[in-house]
Amino acid sequence: MILSIESSCDDSSIAITDIKTKEIIFHKKISQEIDHSKYGGVVPELAARLHAKALPAILEQTESYFKNLKAIAVTNAPGLSVTLLEGVTMAKALSISLNLPLIAVNHLHGHIYSLFIEKETKFPLLVLLVSGGHTQVIKAKGYKDFEILASTMDDSFGESFDKVSKMLGLDYPGGPVIEKMAKEGDEGRFEFTVPLINSPLIAFSYSGLKNQVRLKIEELGELSYQDKCDISASFQKVATKHLLHKLKKIFEKETIKEFAIVGGASANLYLRKKIEELCSKYNKNLNLAPLEFCSDNAVMIGRCAIDGYKKDDFTTFEKLDIMARIK
Ligand code: KG4
Ligand code: ZN
Repeated sequence: MILSIESSCDDSSIAITDIKTKEIIFHKKISQEIDHSKYGGVVPELAARLHAKALPAILEQTESYFKNLKAIAVTNAPGLSVTLLEGVTMAKALSISLNLPLIAVNHLHGHIYSLFIEKETKFPLLVLLVSGGHTQVIKAKGYKDFEILASTMDDSFGESFDKVSKMLGLDYPGGPVIEKMAKEGDEGRFEFTVPLINSPLIAFSYSGLKNQVRLKIEELGELSYQDKCDISASFQKVATKHLLHKLKKIFEKETIKEFAIVGGASANLYLRKKIEELCSKYNKNLNLAPLEFCSDNAVMIGRCAIDGYKKDDFTTFEKLDIMARIK
């Protein structure tokens, strides 16, 4: 079995996965969303203090499996440096005390492997990664063999939902809140411009759209509940249209038949529906991770580590370090 640790942002999670069968043996996650909600975003220092309580509390529950462990896996990049360091420190301590090898897992690779939890891998595939930190289209060819086809030039898709929610005086994380409000809203009421609509760039940008929403809020002055619902729906429509517009261009070029959406924002059902329609038009086979594994979790890290284990992709106590940003 592999014990995996995830602490790159505001979720403390530990999982144990069977290497041979890929079965999840243990999984526990403690989220900090409520604690960060009043600040409208994740406060790194607060996140670090909460991980320092939650991670040891979860680890205690895994002790009976220690004798079955063959490796310790941990997210070491990208993420918040203070919180990544806590997971990595715990992994190092376990590796020394249990005399086990270490596997470093890139959080984004983990999100891709959320598709293969308790399953075989399916490469090659095109992946749209939409999270709080990233918006990328990736050509995934195999373990650690990933080519980035498109990225955001500024804010990420999930982050733009968080920021719009904050501007509307709503909760964090903004994604689920905006999606819910949008259901009661009129998506045609505000005509926001689709970012990069006339640009040949295969890239994403959300800061301009966020600014359009800010100006509209200022123009309206005091907002009614219905105004907030209409802004949410109009924003979500354009944010999604932008993804679809650039994806179409990629689908026209790339012949790979398998396509997937991963990351926290892939839980958005409006986005899923629009992408399903696009996939059927371009004859792509849509792959989705189970809803519970779209947001950050240690199971996806463990699943990625199984492939690392099989390829002897181990690291050492001295070499294992965090990398908050990946260039
Ligand atoms: O993957 P994740 O859990 O953490 C990161 O690695 O960033 O993604 C969290 C992000 C947040 O920005 C959150 O607002 C967004 O995913 N998100 C959503 C939805 N659920 C979560 N965005 C849009 N619609 C949703 N339903
Ligand atoms: Zn994530």
